[in-house]
Amino acid sequence: MTSSRKSLVLAAFAASVSAAALLAVSRPAQGAGDDGPKPVAEIKDVMLAINAGDESLVSRLKADFAKDKLDDDGWEVARARASMIMEAGNVLFGLKPPMGDEAAWRKHVAEYRGCADQAREAANKKDAAAGKAALAGLGKRCNECHKDHRKSD
Ligand code: HEC
Repeated sequence: MTSSRKSLVLAAFAASVSAAALLAVSRPAQGAGDDGPKPVAEIKDVMLAINAGDESLVSRLKADFAKDKLDDDGWEVARARASMIMEAGNVLFGLKPPMGDEAAWRKHVAEYRGCADQAREAANKKDAAAGKAALAGLGKRCNECHKDHRKSD
């Protein structure tokens, strides 16, 4: 590469870096007057779509780990499911339960999210036994949290 071309490339690089820096500064923090899309899910939505029933992400992931052998695509899907269960934890973190105090709620959510993290790690390592163990742990989080935060009907 000639030196003039080199400096052109460098200049273009520098320009893109400063544009990225500007963008980072000018973009408001999430939730601080940002007019992007707002979160819509309620706690019940997370429970019904992610946690409960045969079609939930948790059930699907359980079935993934129970399979004799997942191929590479199957592991990728398992990892994706675990990632989205972690995201469900992120959503829950910002929501207010119908009862119970905030510190206890955050602890329950963190434990739930931690189990999903272990499941994700298991999928990364293609380790079905670790995945099963992670989901068994996650299954125990349901009632633990419900005892503190779900109003009995
Ligand atoms: C971090 C706390 C927490 C964890 C963990 C949790 N839940 Fe819940 N769940 C709640 C709360 C709070 C409600 C009540 C929501 C409401 O009434 O608005 C609820 C409600 C539910 C409901 C009733 C939804 C409806 O139709 O009203 C089901 C079903 C449910 N959870 C299943 C599960 C399962 C299965 C798991 C575990 C895989 C789980 N939950 C884990 C907090 C939790």
